[in-house]
Amino acid sequence: MTATHPPLRLPLILIGFMGAGKTVVGWHLARRLGLRFLDLDQEIERRAGCTVADIFRTAGEAHFRHLEATLLAEILRRPPAPLLLATGGGVVEDPANRALLAETGTVIFLDPPFKVLVGRIRLAGLARPLADGVEERVLRDRWRRRRPLYREVATLTVGGALPLESQVQRLAERLCPSA
Ligand code: S3P
Repeated sequence: MTATHPPLRLPLILIGFMGAGKTVVGWHLARRLGLRFLDLDQEIERRAGCTVADIFRTAGEAHFRHLEATLLAEILRRPPAPLLLATGGGVVEDPANRALLAETGTVIFLDPPFKVLVGRIRLAGLARPLADGVEERVLRDRWRRRRPLYREVATLTVGGALPLESQVQRLAERLCPSA
């Protein structure tokens, strides 16, 4: 007897704290499942013609959040289907974003332990305005505050300290066993 699986609800949306691997896992998972991949931060940067760090520096976080919420709504209301969207770690701060996420597609929360997140954030050396030069204690408070918000909108959660390739493999098997 073959098991039947409910159809996959698209778009797939990856959420989680900075360093959770949303962009890397998203890119590989999208390829594996034959979905188009979009990264919300990269799309914001493409449209603004400058980096997220530049936007924070020149126009402030509130302006970045406005761009983020506007683009999220634009993409999710009319997704260029079939889509996998990786989001920025702070997208769940806005209740309107959470409401939209909760009613759309399949929301996957990448939730590695805090130590793994910090290691990746420090290693990446990327310009992350909310992490660069920030004490670990402050990052941990932000992570603790946000975790319930990610959980609130997640359809499924991937915890543990698995390497990113294993996460892609597990998610592909879970979401689309025939792929
Ligand atoms: C942010 C996370 C970043 C980016 C911006 C704000 C946050 O994305 O959207 O710097 O508030 O956590 P990543 O989660 O991809 O680093």
